[in-house]
Amino acid sequence: MLPPSGNLSSLTLIRPDDWHLHVRDGDALDVVVPHSAACFGRALIMPNLRPPVTTTVQALTYRERILASVPQDMVFEPLMSLYLTDNTPLEEIDGAKASGIVIAAKLYPAGATTHSDAGVTAIELIHPVLERMEKLGLVLCVHGEATAADVDIFDRERIFIEKTLSPLVRHFPGLKIVFEHITTSEAAQFVRAAGTNVAATVTAHHLLFNRNALFAGGLRPHHYCLPVLKREKHRRSLIQAVCSGCPRFFLGTDSAPHAAHTKEAACGCAGCYTAPLALSLYAEAFEAEGALDRFEAFASLNGAAFYGLPPNEDKITLQRKSWKVPDYYSYLNDKLIPLCAGETVAWELDASMSDRVPS
Ligand code: DOR
Ligand code: ZN
Repeated sequence: MLPPSGNLSSLTLIRPDDWHLHVRDGDALDVVVPHSAACFGRALIMPNLRPPVTTTVQALTYRERILASVPQDMVFEPLMSLYLTDNTPLEEIDGAKASGIVIAAKLYPAGATTHSDAGVTAIELIHPVLERMEKLGLVLCVHGEATAADVDIFDRERIFIEKTLSPLVRHFPGLKIVFEHITTSEAAQFVRAAGTNVAATVTAHHLLFNRNALFAGGLRPHHYCLPVLKREKHRRSLIQAVCSGCPRFFLGTDSAPHAAHTKEAACGCAGCYTAPLALSLYAEAFEAEGALDRFEAFASLNGAAFYGLPPNEDKITLQRKSWKVPDYYSYLNDKLIPLCAGETVAWELDASMSDRVPS
């Protein structure tokens, strides 16, 4: 157990996993996969490609393409998810479970976020699929936002809980559900009060920033993600949740690469690219709360336990050493601008002390 003090010069923890990651496809993989593989042992890969990953066969071939971008000196295991549509056949759920590699299926309410137009238009349409997932023990990952045009964007998560998630949890008490990238007090409270089958991922950016960051001195497209950043009181609730010791909160970066010109645009894409600095940001958030002793469970133990997997066997070390986040990475004939580009963060991954288990 790590001491709760904020004066450590280094932090060694069981290698963390990222339970919510976007890596895209094609040439993007060589840029972004090494950033995650450098620090995380495993990641649950989100299926919102265009076209989406709706079958186990597609998920397994996508996984091979991701593995081809893992640097030779790194060990990184992509775990896969299926994208649920109104027409997902029950056989796909059976095949996913049987694969042992597809460990979850993702519910995107149609229209909720990037590449969600093929998502689910009415939750009742997938009730048979959810029943099968409940029976087989396949985890449901949920993008929890109501999409009706008359719902205020800052209320989307709360309304989704009331209208969709609460009834869903009551209807399928045996279904394991991960409420992804939660952003509100209501979501944190909902998960804390729920039973052992309901968990949540929390991003580093929702722990560190409130909605003022979107407008600090002008419009900040690199802080724009969905669900959008919320008020300070919500950020505080998320911090309290992850530092509470409740094992049903765990790390999911939602790192989401977009080429610079698609974010710095009249209608900019949602998504913060955090993979290279996420661990540093999380460590800062826990340290600011005097809760570094809770960091390892959140980053390295809780998610694996929820998914029924063992923790990673090796460890990583973060050094208290300030480093400058790059201004950008080269990406698809453009730039990929990370969150906090050009700024200084306090913890650096010590590659030399990261003790990898040989494959
Ligand atoms: O900000 C986001 N970006 N939220 C999502 O739900 C999707 C993601 C992406 O794929 O870019
Ligand atoms: Zn996401």
